[in-house]
Amino acid sequence: MSHNSDPSTVEKNRYTLIDNKTGQTAQFSRINPTYGKPAIDLSGPIDTEKGPAKGGLRAVFQIEAHDPAYKSTSSCLSEITYIDGEEGVLLHRGYNIKDLTQNATYMDVVHLLLEGTLPGATEKEKFEQKMVGAMRVPKVVEHVIRGFDRDDSPMDMLAAAMSAASAKSDDSNPRAVIAQLPAIVAMVIRHQQGKDKFLAPDTTLGFTENFVRMAFADDDGTYKINKVLTESMDKLLILHADHEQNASTSEVRGARSAGSKMAASIAAGVITLAGPLHGGANQKVLEQLEQIANTNPGQSLDEKIAGVIAKAKDPNDDFRLMGFGHRVYKNTDPRATVLKAFVDNLLQELNVKDERLDIAMKLEQAALADPYFKDRKLFPNVDFYSGIAMAAMGMKPELFTLIFAAGRVSGWTAQAEELDRSKQPICRPRQQYVGDAERPVPKR
Ligand code: CMC
Repeated sequence: MSHNSDPSTVEKNRYTLIDNKTGQTAQFSRINPTYGKPAIDLSGPIDTEKGPAKGGLRAVFQIEAHDPAYKSTSSCLSEITYIDGEEGVLLHRGYNIKDLTQNATYMDVVHLLLEGTLPGATEKEKFEQKMVGAMRVPKVVEHVIRGFDRDDSPMDMLAAAMSAASAKSDDSNPRAVIAQLPAIVAMVIRHQQGKDKFLAPDTTLGFTENFVRMAFADDDGTYKINKVLTESMDKLLILHADHEQNASTSEVRGARSAGSKMAASIAAGVITLAGPLHGGANQKVLEQLEQIANTNPGQSLDEKIAGVIAKAKDPNDDFRLMGFGHRVYKNTDPRATVLKAFVDNLLQELNVKDERLDIAMKLEQAALADPYFKDRKLFPNVDFYSGIAMAAMGMKPELFTLIFAAGRVSGWTAQAEELDRSKQPICRPRQQYVGDAERPVPKR
């Protein structure tokens, strides 16, 4: 990962755009980030033959940039997270994700994302106490969750409950969502598991201990803190905390740019995260592994895996190998590497034998040796092993995406605050209209 020679600078007039038909030209600046690919600044000011012009590419050149799915487009300047997709590196404010999972707690990482620094001991205690205090949610949230059937989609429950929390929020403490969302996740888990009582936070416990207790204690509040489970949950929250401009974060930034309250913007993120191509993939991975284990009992595991790989490669079949591939990572997803080692440890510590881990490792081996996956640079992503970790911790697959959300809310909030500080106008893409020309309604 090479540092740019002239980082965090703007090179004026580095690029020239020429209209080959009219001869019109304009000069565009180049943004050099600390790491990663530089960008052509289309937002202006732009130099033209007639002098400097304001308003960006569209106003100056009467043309728009077309980039569906934003494959080549950066939407903001950000200091929070850097991903090197080619090298498989993930940094939060300059700290490597592996280093953070080994040497920091989730509360440290939340402080880091929001403030830019890891907290000192006193600062951390205060910060954590404040977060634990914010784990209380308005009463309406309880009513909303109880209104759902217990087997309804947990992510739908979370989105509705988050919107209900927004209804009671005046946005004066936008960071409260970082504590409220996990508290709501705990309530959804209890409701889903047939428990009737929702638990208030215990101010003598840390944030992650509280989250685990509020989600998994018995209805009478009985819960024996299990150090392995709490530490594992803390690591899962760190691994999911932020991932720069993914679909849900872009959605949160978009909602916030429209002036929506933080809790409402977070609800938009929850809805986006739920999709199976995004956070919902962790549930699908486990379902896929279970399907491999349980179907075609006459076949050997190798035969079953060969069948799944063939199906994933078939251009006439929409089936995808869940937990494989990533828009940005084209070598390895460092979160998956951390998780694979962590899952191994966790299973040993909990003395659990999980056949699904063996299937996952065989599936990974088979896919990585296959030219289809090699050529397209498709590797296991964070969701490939996180489901096995959560299953070992006693969770059902339909709850996995909730845990992703419980960690990601910290990144969403840090990104939304960064957007607030940047004073960026409302996010509003253009389009190329390719429909019918204007026509009269026929007389009928
Ligand atoms: N299985 C089989 N083929 C795949 C897969 C897969 N999992 N992922 C991508 N491909 C193929 C795809 O068919 C295409 O082939 P071709 O060039 O022949 O048309 C090529 O690889 C490029 O795929 P793409 O869909 O254009 O890539 P993308 O960057 O738009 O999509 C992705 C990224 C993550 C949505 C996709 O890889 C995928 O659907 N993966 C499975 C779902 C999944 O695991 N999602 C979790 C992502 S990580 C957690 C998070 O951040 O949310």
